[in-house]
Amino acid sequence: MNVKPRLALAALVAAASAATLISTSAVAQSPKLKVGLMLPYTGTFAALGVAIENGFRLYVGEQGGKLGGREIDFVKVDDESDPAKATDNVNKLIKRDNVDVIVGTVHSGVAMAMAKAAKDNGTMLIVPNAGADAVTGPMCANHIFRSSFSNWQPGYAMGEVVAKKGHKKVVTITWKYAAGDESVKGFREGLEKGGGQIVKELSLPFPGVEFQALLTEIASIKPDAVYTFFAGGGAVKFVKDYAAAGLKKSIPLYGAGFLTDGTLEAQGADADGLLTTLHYGDSLDSARDRTFRLNYAKQYKLQPDVYAVQGYDAAQMLAIGLNAVKGDVTKKAEFAAAVEKSKIDSPRGAFTLGKSHNPVQDIYLRQVVGKENKVIGVASKGLADPGRGCRM
Ligand code: BEZ
Repeated sequence: MNVKPRLALAALVAAASAATLISTSAVAQSPKLKVGLMLPYTGTFAALGVAIENGFRLYVGEQGGKLGGREIDFVKVDDESDPAKATDNVNKLIKRDNVDVIVGTVHSGVAMAMAKAAKDNGTMLIVPNAGADAVTGPMCANHIFRSSFSNWQPGYAMGEVVAKKGHKKVVTITWKYAAGDESVKGFREGLEKGGGQIVKELSLPFPGVEFQALLTEIASIKPDAVYTFFAGGGAVKFVKDYAAAGLKKSIPLYGAGFLTDGTLEAQGADADGLLTTLHYGDSLDSARDRTFRLNYAKQYKLQPDVYAVQGYDAAQMLAIGLNAVKGDVTKKAEFAAAVEKSKIDSPRGAFTLGKSHNPVQDIYLRQVVGKENKVIGVASKGLADPGRGCRM
């Protein structure tokens, strides 16, 4: 071999190993992924926000602290479940903190402002609770995902249950905002399909808990049943007031499962026997759920609830997308394609996403027994949100 080709070969080898070095160090130095947690940490939904964050962090911890090969840097905003502050709050995360991904929130009105900002700025958003139908309806986008439910889903499933029980005249009572309205809308659809009807829709402004006058009105209407959407601190107060008013004995109370999830310690015996519909329950008895519950209880010295599951699954969905794009969150189409074709291995049972990124999932019928929402059946199998048009 003459000297020239040997020199060229050596140069090639040197260049190749330099390239390897550069790419290895580029991976090693890949900056932390900035995740903006926009959740309620105060107010009637405070405990829900904490459970979502706990669930999210649990999954990240199980992956050794990294998702898609990147460590996570959390930036937190307390949204106070206040829609009036939502746009400013989400813009802090997008424009001031330059987050890569936003995870939030609980309240439907706040979530709609977040979805708008995420759409306007092209920021990745994963909604770990708020059920606002529009987020995975008209507002949907290839970089907006939901790990929870649409407000229509548990409402519709309970409408079918109540109709099957033969209740004909039903009164509904809820907070007057998107989640309450849409939950009742779903309930009405299921109920009317089965031959029942809503005779009166009662409501009060969010997050009010002055239920007395409305309970008196229910007593005077004497319906066959009552359907309700309340959650968090408001749900605790409503269940206690319903029992104290003497209505629990005479008019059966049904609810979207938020009525009794994460609330049973505080509701005590007043919640005993209540029937609700939700995509999670305390006695699923699958290996996946048992491991999740054990790890959650070990880490937080608390029992998990549906909100913890939704936070955990938001992290799982983020991991699936990030793994597909090797941590490069700007590759939105590839990220979305990976999440869309995945089956998310949730403690609630595996689920897929519909075309506008809302879970297609079983809705369980649960009954409160002691401190548990015991699963007593599947109210709706593989229920997909019917969608109200998606302009993806
Ligand atoms: C909502 O506003 O969408 C919501 C809040 C709490 C529980 C469930 C839904």
